[in-house]
Amino acid sequence: MARSSFGKADMPAVLPTLEWIGELPGALRLIDQTRLPSECLTIDCVTTEQVWEAIRSLRVRGAPAIGCAAAYGVIVGVQSPLPSDSSELVSRVQQVADYLATSRPTAVNLFWALDRMRRVAVENASLSVPTLLARLLSEARMIDAEDREMCAAIGKHGAALMPENGSVLTHCNAGGLATAGDGTALSVFFAAAAAGKKLHVFADETRPLLQGARLTAWELQQRGIPVTVICDSMAALALRDRNVSAVVVGADRIAANGDTANKVGTYSVAVLARAHGVPFYVAAPSSTFDFNLPTGAGIPIEERKSEEITEGFGTRTVPVGVAVWNPAFDVTPAELIAGIITERGVILAPTTERIREVLS
Ligand code: MRU
Repeated sequence: MARSSFGKADMPAVLPTLEWIGELPGALRLIDQTRLPSECLTIDCVTTEQVWEAIRSLRVRGAPAIGCAAAYGVIVGVQSPLPSDSSELVSRVQQVADYLATSRPTAVNLFWALDRMRRVAVENASLSVPTLLARLLSEARMIDAEDREMCAAIGKHGAALMPENGSVLTHCNAGGLATAGDGTALSVFFAAAAAGKKLHVFADETRPLLQGARLTAWELQQRGIPVTVICDSMAALALRDRNVSAVVVGADRIAANGDTANKVGTYSVAVLARAHGVPFYVAAPSSTFDFNLPTGAGIPIEERKSEEITEGFGTRTVPVGVAVWNPAFDVTPAELIAGIITERGVILAPTTERIREVLS
């Protein structure tokens, strides 16, 4: 895995979160998000195992970005050695997609993107190997480009819900680092700021891996949007005493009825927002909806290793031998959600019927 790094001084203002380098054969270049904010370093993945590891260890993370990385990961896995015929290429696509699907369980964008790649392979099985490979790369590029467009549209729809001048709160990172574009929740803030609104963002630090403190604060700082990091346990106080007018978060999977899985702690924020009369919005593209699941009860929740809690970032903070539970996501019931901001518009007070009306 090739690496290149940027020191603080020469850190470019906007570096793509992920991009395909070269043509065929090429490589998947990613910002290694585990190194932020102290170092902005990119890695080039040239094997499927590297892509799998990058997703599993959160070098690339956030539901839409995971989907895009997996789509390019399929190309990484099949481009060399070149299969001898198209039927071998199709079965290699299936194998690589099955393997990448085991990297993380919750973000549905991963499975959505892999299914698109599988379908393109099967439907174009009569093409020659080089032509089919080129078609697969163009599908991965399309997934990437569509994600950028969805982020921009989400920003536009959500900006109208933001105050002219006031504070908002977000949890985890649903920004450019979590997507191919400008993000989902953060895209709303960026678009509001571009429209002249004066926003101040409270970013929950987001235990245990600190996506809010490390990534959201970094992105907002880079884009010149005032941000204050708070410990997750301070959200109630911020909502009560700091004039927060809206909460906006991202999503990893939304069931047909609007129940939403997002980074663990999101559910607590939704309960707190309801208790303080603050609207709680979810910003997500249509690729994050899972219409096979009628409610959030069926969403698989990833459980990660206990060391992320007991010795996160290298310091032991829990006595050796003490039990730890580390679910990475929780599910916010739809009734706590004021609206879901999608690329096709805002679904207020989401229900199965309203979601279908907007997204079908
Ligand atoms: O474990 P992570 O960092 O991948 O979790 C990410 C989140 O929970 C994001 O809020 C979600 O994927 C939406 S990103 C637009």
